[in-house]
Amino acid sequence: MEQSIESYIKNLVRDTIVHTIGELQVQKDRQTYIIANWKMNKTLAETAEFFQQINSSQDVAVVVCPPTQLLYPAHLFIQQSKKTIGLGGQNVHWAEKGAYTGETSTSMLKDVGCEYVIIGHSERRQYANEDDELVNRKVKQALNDGLTPIVCIGETLGQKNSLQTEHVLSTQLLGALKGIDSSKFIIAYEPVWAIGTGQSATAELAQQTHAYIRTVLKQILGEKADNISILYGGSANESNAAEYSAMPDIDGVLVGGASLNAQSFDGIINVFAKGEQSE
Ligand code: 13P
Repeated sequence: MEQSIESYIKNLVRDTIVHTIGELQVQKDRQTYIIANWKMNKTLAETAEFFQQINSSQDVAVVVCPPTQLLYPAHLFIQQSKKTIGLGGQNVHWAEKGAYTGETSTSMLKDVGCEYVIIGHSERRQYANEDDELVNRKVKQALNDGLTPIVCIGETLGQKNSLQTEHVLSTQLLGALKGIDSSKFIIAYEPVWAIGTGQSATAELAQQTHAYIRTVLKQILGEKADNISILYGGSANESNAAEYSAMPDIDGVLVGGASLNAQSFDGIINVFAKGEQSE
C-alpha cells in the first residue's frame, strides 16, 4: 500500500513537471530535426521502398543518413518522391582529398546530395578508435566545406554509474568544438547505454542533460548556443517520442533501429510535427 502511494505521488509529480515544461515550450524557436541513422543496414531495393513509403513534414526537418554506397541512389529517390527530406553521411574524413583508402571526403558527400554528416558517433569512437581530436578535425572540415555536422556525444554505463556524465560530456564538447566559433552544427546526445538496448533515457533525464549541454555550449559560444539544436538519441521510438518532444531543450531525435521501418519513423516525425503545431 505504502509503495503504491509513493509511486502515485512520483507519477503525479512527474506528470506535473512534463505538463509544466510542455507549456514553457512555447518559447522554443530552434529547428526541430528528426534524423535517421541507418548504420550498416538496408539494400538498394529496401532504400527505394523506404523513400516511397516515408512522408516528409512542413513542421520539422527530416534527414536520412544511409550507408555511403546508398547515398546517391537515396538522393535520386528523394528527388523522384518530391518530398522535403535531407540527406546525410554517417562519417567523413578530415582531409580534403588524398591517399586515404576507403575514406569519403566532405566534397564527395556534397557531390551526391548530402547537406549533413554524423561525426563522432559512439560506434565509431568504439570500433574505429575515434577520439575528440579526430572528431574536432572532422567537424572543422565539414564546417569549412559547408556541411552541417551532427556531433555525437554521450557517456557509457560505467561513466554514468560513477557519476561522470557531466565531466564526459563537457570534455567531449570542448574537444569536438575546439577552435570553432560557428554555431552551424547540431549536437546529438546519445547515452551509450541507451543505444540499441531498449533502455531509453527518461525524458526528464534527457532534458536535464540537454540543459547541461546547453550551459557548456554557452561557455564555448556565448548566446549563439541558444540557436543550436540538441537532439536525443538512444532507443527513441514512436512510443516515447511525445515525452521527448514536450521538453524545452530536446530539439528532435537521432534514431537508429526505429528509423529502419518507414512506418515507425513516420510515426516519430508525426509526433514531433504535432508538437510544433500546438506551440
Ligand atoms: P537506436 O535508436 O537503435 O538506439 O540507435 C541510436 C543511435 O545510435 C542513432 O545514432
